[in-house]
Amino acid sequence: MKHIPVLLEESIRGLNLKKGNIFVDGTLGGGGHSNYVCQKYNNQVKVIGIEVDEQIIKEAEKILKDCNVQIQRSNFQDLDKVLNKLGVEEIDAILLDLGLNSYQLDESGRGFSFQRDEPLLMTMKKDISDDDLTAKLIINEWSEDSLKDIFYGYGEERFAKVIAHKIVELREEKEIETTFDLVDIIKKAIPVWYQKKKGIHYATKTFQAIRIAVNDELRILEKGLEIGFKYLKNNGRLVVISFHSLEDRIVKRFFREKSKEKIAILITKKPISPGQEEIQKNPRSRSAKLRILEKIS
Ligand SMILES: C[S@@+](CC[C@H](N)C(=O)[O-])C[C@H]1O[C@@H](n2cnc3c(N)ncnc32)[C@H](O)[C@@H]1O
Repeated sequence: MKHIPVLLEESIRGLNLKKGNIFVDGTLGGGGHSNYVCQKYNNQVKVIGIEVDEQIIKEAEKILKDCNVQIQRSNFQDLDKVLNKLGVEEIDAILLDLGLNSYQLDESGRGFSFQRDEPLLMTMKKDISDDDLTAKLIINEWSEDSLKDIFYGYGEERFAKVIAHKIVELREEKEIETTFDLVDIIKKAIPVWYQKKKGIHYATKTFQAIRIAVNDELRILEKGLEIGFKYLKNNGRLVVISFHSLEDRIVKRFFREKSKEKIAILITKKPISPGQEEIQKNPRSRSAKLRILEKIS
């Protein structure tokens, strides 16, 4: 499925760009937001697009072929290295549109979705080495307590304890290899009413937790916010779209701190969420929250 950019108008308006500005798209993905910037400002905004996943970059390159963009394969926590390499000292705005691209969920074959039977990787890159942490390693080797802690801490999964216990019990019999193996174990661990609960699939939170752990997403977000803010010019904007409460809490806390220190203004006192029309067109946008901060020193 093609990735549909979330809160597109609202986030780009929030960047408050002007012709001649330098804009960092810290999560380039399929290039939806960057492409819109290129079109809206007739290629007179210089876009630096950062993306960790090389497979996604290939998709973005096609969409952005007429765009004034410098694509960098990197992690947004390494923004300093990217800017250094490009000889850029300050930026006017940065966007972090967190989470996954639809391509990663639907086609990457890396086990992000509980709706497809795939190997348990959940890594942001395709070519992994023996040193890389994978979902399979976490599930088959981490202790019961560590599993419980990530399911609870990163997934807010109320059945964290029983799911962790069932995983440890069943991995003794056979290594857990695929997403469907894991979904099956979760199903065995939880009560029937939870399996049938409307609205959210019973494996959602466990999968979210493992993905966050594999990619160290929350710590990287904290670093990304700090470093993005550091490189902003006076009156520069930091715009973040988050997709679950753990991410949003980190963004909210960071924005509040900067505002209390009187080095930034909260442009959004409350987060902006997609309207009914956007949710209908793009159900994946339903949990999105957009926050905007302006640096003032
Ligand atoms: C929600 S998508 C962005 C979609 C994009 N705004 C669009 O409209 O096409 C998030 C992207 O950020 C990438 N990503 C996640 N964490 C990252 C990180 N720490 N550094 C750089 N890219 C990251 C993912 O690989 C994914 O492609």
